[in-house]
Amino acid sequence: MEELEKLKKELKDLNAEYAKIKEIPAEKRGAFGRELNAKKMALLDKIMKAEEAQYDMTVEPLDVTAPCAPNEKLPELYSVEQGSRHPLMVELDRVTSIYQMMGFDVMESRQLDDEYHMFDSLNFAKEHPARDGYDTFRTEEGYIPPAHTSTMQNRVLKAYKKKLDETGLISVVVPGRVYRNEDVDATHEHTFYQCEGVYVSESCTMGQMLGILREFFEKYYEQKLNIRTQPGYFPFTEPSLEFMIEKPKSLGGKKGDFLEMLGCGMIHPNVLKMAGIDPEKYHGFAWGGGIDRLVMLRYGLKDVRHFESGNLNFLRNFK
Ligand code: DAH
Repeated sequence: MEELEKLKKELKDLNAEYAKIKEIPAEKRGAFGRELNAKKMALLDKIMKAEEAQYDMTVEPLDVTAPCAPNEKLPELYSVEQGSRHPLMVELDRVTSIYQMMGFDVMESRQLDDEYHMFDSLNFAKEHPARDGYDTFRTEEGYIPPAHTSTMQNRVLKAYKKKLDETGLISVVVPGRVYRNEDVDATHEHTFYQCEGVYVSESCTMGQMLGILREFFEKYYEQKLNIRTQPGYFPFTEPSLEFMIEKPKSLGGKKGDFLEMLGCGMIHPNVLKMAGIDPEKYHGFAWGGGIDRLVMLRYGLKDVRHFESGNLNFLRNFK
């Protein structure tokens, strides 16, 4: 410290020397100036080193990404909390990986579609009242945020047509977000998730379909289940069924407590034809059902509105 003070004093004196320049005869001024400059440079160098020696260079480097100084108490607002994936996304992964283990490919659905894919290609007759049953939203341009993942059936069939001719099989599941213009309550949301399944081969049967669905639900709920079907109506399947499972005891169910989980059936020949697949040669079955409902049963949730609420108290339960 003393050393530094001494050097600084020297520098001050040296600077005062510069004032003498004008008294020096012109022919000696250059040499005088150069000598002063050299002394000054050497002095500044010593001062810098003395200053550096003052600092404790072992101090932790500064973390410029820290929300506040290391010794300050973190304000509530800044307290860092590890986030987590949305439960529906976690469960969608679980759903698709079960199907993948069973040999299915996964193709993602879309968020905006058109009249052709949503209805025409699925054998909905023009002006047929069944179109109204889907409570569709529409954009001003006439596009439709899809009301079901079946909107992807035509695309799946077309995309896998070549593979069908080569391998004799299409087996694809399509998870996706869907939208319906309906009154929202504990069991209805305007935005939810579905998963569609499409299976085509030369000789597939309804029995195979029920086997696949049973296998899926038993894997998902990790136990043996009682299943039941009842006749349904969808323009794109013939015959059409509603598929139900008996609510397991472990999830609060009683005997005979059957829950409808999805719609399914044998793909209508017109749907195959519209995708360029010969219905004389190939047959298929398809199914589609809500993911939210599946997850609600698994976790005993009573209100579907939690999923889209962004409520952290709800989401933290799934960390
Ligand atoms: N898309 C139908 C719905 O949302 C469910 C459905 C029924 C899908 C039968 C299918 C099917 O693939 O074959 O209500």
